[in-house]
Amino acid sequence: MTKTFFIETWGCQMNDLDSQRLSGSLKLRGYRRVESEEQADLILLNTCSIRDKSEQKVFSHLGRLREMKQEREELQIGVCGCVAQQEGEAVLHRAPWVDFVMGPGNVGHLDQILSGDRRVAIDFPDDRNYDYLTVDRPSATKAQVTIIEGCNKNCTFCIVPTTRGREVSRPFDDVLREVRAAVETGRVEIELLGQTVNAYRCPVTSRDFGALLAAVAEIDGVARLRFMTSHPAEVNDSMIAAMRDHVNVSRYLHLPVQSGSSKILRRMKRLYTREHYLETISRIREAIPEIHFSTDVIVGFPGETDDDFEQTLSLIEEVRYGSMFAFKYSPRPGTPALKIGDAVDDAIASERLTRVFDLHERIKREHLESYRGRVLPVLVEGPSRHDAAMLTGRTDYNIVVNFSAASAPATDVRPGSMLGVRIDQAQHHTLRGEAVA
Ligand code: 5AD
Repeated sequence: MTKTFFIETWGCQMNDLDSQRLSGSLKLRGYRRVESEEQADLILLNTCSIRDKSEQKVFSHLGRLREMKQEREELQIGVCGCVAQQEGEAVLHRAPWVDFVMGPGNVGHLDQILSGDRRVAIDFPDDRNYDYLTVDRPSATKAQVTIIEGCNKNCTFCIVPTTRGREVSRPFDDVLREVRAAVETGRVEIELLGQTVNAYRCPVTSRDFGALLAAVAEIDGVARLRFMTSHPAEVNDSMIAAMRDHVNVSRYLHLPVQSGSSKILRRMKRLYTREHYLETISRIREAIPEIHFSTDVIVGFPGETDDDFEQTLSLIEEVRYGSMFAFKYSPRPGTPALKIGDAVDDAIASERLTRVFDLHERIKREHLESYRGRVLPVLVEGPSRHDAAMLTGRTDYNIVVNFSAASAPATDVRPGSMLGVRIDQAQHHTLRGEAVA
């Protein structure tokens, strides 16, 4: 009988893609994917440890799986991803009903684990075994493509250097081959991924991120090109020029600022000041006036005073991010920030988080409202999940648009095609409109 598997995924795009790789390689080995844990012979939890809360979720989930394992002894449970990497063997002590623990460096080495040769695999082998042809992509129109793994920055709050290891870029030609293969199967939207995606450097030819971005944008059939996540200190002229010169590169850039105070940025080891960050934003805007930004913010970092926090708010106002994510600082094991002292009172941090959300709500509303009456190019993804009479797609700025296509020819509304949509309504996070001829 064929074996079945279920994957639960938490965290970032890299984890999403790792799950797609795991799923693809299991299917290649004859496993069938199922949509509930009850039906699965193998359950993989692809975990996130970026903040304490993400980690707690994993262990409470494991608590629930314990009973399932008691009832079905043959059930196999694997903990993958960043909690696996960070806790290693300790996962097995804390949850002895877990069968194996496998970190992000071993996604390409699932065989060694399924064969029972290894129970704990948390090294970063030189050969990452990246078999892109077997990636089980959930979208018919979109493909995520890793170009660089790991991170060489040492932001003092961040666990990623521990969980994902040192930077390793993939050869330029490998990336191009993967993109071409994805486009051939209808994936016209490509998202290049890396923890610090714009630190990319080809290990063979030393070509940089801008060169790669331009080369991918020039591949026939790439209708839209995105990338995640850029580090502000790695933005350079070659990257900006590649964005400017290729209209299929999304006019949307996620550029995490973390704080608007130079003092806090120094403590975070972000390698830029407030002024330097704002200068970078201006430089990009000068080259690409229609660009929109999004960001990540941390509040309550050790030593953050009211004044530091006000500087974060004023920076958000100044840049007018189209969207943003904000988090309360969460101390992570082994990170340098643990030694800073000067902790911010939790109630104060919570209040700051609320103020950031409120400010952003207002900016986002104004931003969404500003599209009313305009015709935006939308990349069609398929029928809307909530209303079968509507279609759904995304704007270049990554905003979901639900629209009716009654007046558009059927050939124009196939998933993967680009369509003009007149926006008539701004909803909470999304836009609504009508396709125009
Ligand atoms: N505490 C709170 N937020 C964090 N992030 C990363 N590490 C921490 C931490 N220790 C946030 C940053 C990052 C995003 C992915 O998660 O804002 O950009």
